[in-house]
Amino acid sequence: MKELKTQTLHEYFECLTIKPMRQTELVALLNEITIGETCFFRSQPQLDAMRTIIIPKVLVAKAKFPLRRLRIWSAGCSTGEEPYTLSMLPLEEAARRLKDWTIEILATDLNERSLAHAKNAIYGSYSTRNLTPYYRQKYFMAVGEQLQVQPAARNSITFSRLNLSDDARMTFMKSLDVVFCCNVLIYFDLVSKRRVIQHFYNNLLPHGYLFLRHSESLYGVNDDFRLVHLPGATAYIKGERTQAGKQDT
Ligand SMILES: C[S@@+](CC[C@H](N)C(=O)[O-])C[C@H]1O[C@@H](n2cnc3c(N)ncnc32)[C@H](O)[C@@H]1O
Repeated sequence: MKELKTQTLHEYFECLTIKPMRQTELVALLNEITIGETCFFRSQPQLDAMRTIIIPKVLVAKAKFPLRRLRIWSAGCSTGEEPYTLSMLPLEEAARRLKDWTIEILATDLNERSLAHAKNAIYGSYSTRNLTPYYRQKYFMAVGEQLQVQPAARNSITFSRLNLSDDARMTFMKSLDVVFCCNVLIYFDLVSKRRVIQHFYNNLLPHGYLFLRHSESLYGVNDDFRLVHLPGATAYIKGERTQAGKQDT
């Protein structure tokens, strides 16, 4: 309000809804109010499950596909720590199982400022607090007091601005093997959450996996996904694969 020199909430509301500037102001407001708390290796059990269970299963499911491509979406990626962490997992496997595979990591968020930070890939001690010396040395280089992600862990990632409530754009996020949407849907009301989850369902390949935060449940939100218990973590698979889900546990 100070920046726009508006005196009352009503005046500011007009800036958001009526004036020609409304689109720009809405983006600026969203940049201010979204909560971007994140860090590298935020949930180790999820990452262990990705590496030891999910990636091998996806590779088996895709063995008959002509295109050797692993497609992962970090939906609500904030400042990039999550997609960069995800990009390191296949790199660790590259010399073995993932040789000759193309890795595509789509990283999207609503907040432009977070995305600019993500593309810059420079992080301080708070974001990098969970890094082991192995990952720190292999995938980061020092920039002053901070750490920058090495190109090897950046090359497979495409960052773009996407509002998960934008149905038209969501329809195009196709052919996904794994979706990570952690600590994002807590900010959504039930109706919006249902729509977003339905898009994930439609866009995941039949063998695909959806990761939410461990405590975020689809109970009462969606009946098509089925919960799969992994060591120390959970994920969702598409309904028709109940048996495969049981094998995962
Ligand atoms: C708490 S951060 C989670 C970051 C990361 N996924 C993690 O778990 O560490 C939540 C992110 O969701 C994004 N977000 C909130 N609503 C969104 C929406 N409608 N569309 C896209 N991103 C959204 C915020 O901008 C923020 O960066």
